[in-house]
Amino acid sequence: MTFFADTKKLPPDALLQLITDFRNDPSPDKIDLGVGVYQDENGKTPIFEAVELAQRRLQADEESKTYLGPLGWPGLADEVRKLVLGTTLEEKLADRFAVLPTPGSSGALKSTGTLVHRLNAAAKIWLPDPTWANHIPIFQSCDLVTKTYAYYDNDATSLDREKMYADLEKADAGDVIVVHGACHNPTGEDLSAEDWQYLTTLALEKGIVPFIDIAYQGLGQGFEEDMENVRGLLDVVPEAIICYSFSKNMGLYRERVGAALVLTENTEIAGRVQSNLNEIARRSYSMPPSYGGALAWYVLSDPDLNASWRKELEQMRKRVLSLRCQVTDALSAEFGDNRFQYIKSQNGMFSRLPLEPEQIAQLKSEASIYMAGDGRVNMCGFTPTKIARFTDLLVKVAK
Ligand code: LMR
Repeated sequence: MTFFADTKKLPPDALLQLITDFRNDPSPDKIDLGVGVYQDENGKTPIFEAVELAQRRLQADEESKTYLGPLGWPGLADEVRKLVLGTTLEEKLADRFAVLPTPGSSGALKSTGTLVHRLNAAAKIWLPDPTWANHIPIFQSCDLVTKTYAYYDNDATSLDREKMYADLEKADAGDVIVVHGACHNPTGEDLSAEDWQYLTTLALEKGIVPFIDIAYQGLGQGFEEDMENVRGLLDVVPEAIICYSFSKNMGLYRERVGAALVLTENTEIAGRVQSNLNEIARRSYSMPPSYGGALAWYVLSDPDLNASWRKELEQMRKRVLSLRCQVTDALSAEFGDNRFQYIKSQNGMFSRLPLEPEQIAQLKSEASIYMAGDGRVNMCGFTPTKIARFTDLLVKVAK
C-alpha cells in the first residue's frame, strides 16, 4: 500500500465551483449570480482606478522583494486600524489594539479562531444561521466548537429576532458571538441599531466576546454609515475581535488582503495578544503576501487615492442599490404580488430567493443561471436584459 493510495476524494467547494462551471458554460445567455464579486454592467470586475495608480507607484518605489515579517507591508496594520475605528475612536482606542494583516479575511478568521481556541479551548463560537458558507469550516479547523443562533426567517424574509435573542441568551461567559458588520452574507438582512445595542449589553453583562466580520464596508448604507454600529459597540466593550476584508470593497480579491484586529482591555494585554497573533502567523503561513497589502496601504494612506477609491466604491454601491430596485420591481410585476419587496430593503450584494435546491439546479442546467445552492443571488450579476430573462424564467420555475 502506498502512502496516498487511501486518500478519499472530496467534493470541490460548492461556491468556488460555480466560478469554474460558469466560465466553462458556452451559453451566450448565461447569468452569473453566484460568487460574491462585484461586476459592472458588462459583467467585468474592474480594477479600481486608485488601485491601478497604486500598482504603478509600487512598481516605481519597490526596490527589493526581501522578507517583511508577520505584519507584511510596513504601515498597513496602522492604516487598517484607522479605517475601522475612524478618527474619534482611533484617538481613544488605538493603543488597546493588536492588528495582524492577513492573507485575505479568511486568514484573519483562521488566525483569530486559533487565538480563541488557544485562550479558551472550551469556548463556543456562535454563528448566525445562515452565515457565510466557509465560516463554520474555518472555525472547526481551529478545533472550536461551533454553534448557530437563529438569524433569518426564510418564510418571513426578515430577521428572526425573537429566536435570535433567545439563542444568544444561551451563550456562556468566554464564548464568542460572530456578527456580520454590514451586508449580511448570504441574506442581505442586517442587524438594527437596537440589535447591536443588545449585543453590546450581552457582551458587557455576560463576558461574551463580540466577533465582527467586515467584508463589505461601503456597499451597504454608505462607507462611514456601515461602520456606525460597529464603532458604537467598540466604544464601550472591553474586548472584541474584528476580521476585515479588502476583497470586495477594494476589488483585491485574488491578491488576498485582509486583517485581524483584536481589541483588548489595555496596551499591555494588546502587546501580548499581538505576540500571539504574530506567532500564529509564523507557524501557519509565516507572513502575508506583500503585493496586495502594499496596494491597500497606498490607497489608504494617500489622500487622493483614498478619495478616488471611496468615490468609485460609492458608485458601485449605488449601482447595486439600483439593481435591487429593478429586480424587485421586475419580480413584483412578473409574479403580480409583493412577495419580493424585501429585496429592496436589504443591504449589499446579496438577497435570497425562496427556491428549492432542485429549482436552483434546474435554472443552472436548463437556463445557465448560476446562483449559490441556498438561493443566494448576487445582484451585481444583473443587467436590465438579464433581469428580464431571469424573471421570465423564475416565474415558470417558482410560481
Ligand atoms: C462569497 O461568499 O461568494 C464570497 O465571499 C467568495 C467566497 O470566498 O466564498
